[in-house]
Amino acid sequence: MVIALCGYMGCGKSSLGKILAQNLSFEFCDVDDYIEQTQKLTIPQIFACYGEEYFRHLEYLAICELVKEDNTVISLGGGLPIADKNKQVLKNAFVVYIDATFEDCYKRIEKTDRPIVKQKTKEQLNIIYNDRIAHYKKVANFIVKGDDLQKMSSDIEKYLKEVLQ
Ligand code: S3P
Repeated sequence: MVIALCGYMGCGKSSLGKILAQNLSFEFCDVDDYIEQTQKLTIPQIFACYGEEYFRHLEYLAICELVKEDNTVISLGGGLPIADKNKQVLKNAFVVYIDATFEDCYKRIEKTDRPIVKQKTKEQLNIIYNDRIAHYKKVANFIVKGDDLQKMSSDIEKYLKEVLQ
């Protein structure tokens, strides 16, 4: 099984993903890290040299590969669930949406070098956040909320045990 975590930048996908993977004895993989390793470029370099559209294509190629894994928790880039073709691919995973508030996400991303954050104002980032909620909900099989990562992880584990029974 592949568990894919989605949500806005800074919602805690990688932090929760590492905890969940450890609790389940699964592998953990972050799609951005996978792209950086396969391209031998950082995400800001890919945006700067080749543009966002090319990055989105790399995200598609990456998720097509990563859903073939088993016993793996994947942290998706915040923009990945937007494209319809990615939504299709994500049907092969159990998708969890981490529903964090914009302010909580913003606090964690405002001083980072994420290209989208560098290019936009706080107001624009808030608009993108609002636009994306419907996409995250559409791909999600399960939604977690709050700031207690261990509690979110155990909510996911409990739910999985129930549905897999
Ligand atoms: C993006 C989110 C980033 C990364 C890229 C674009 C987005 O991932 O994929 O900078 O469009 O929301 P995180 O959500 O892990 O920060």
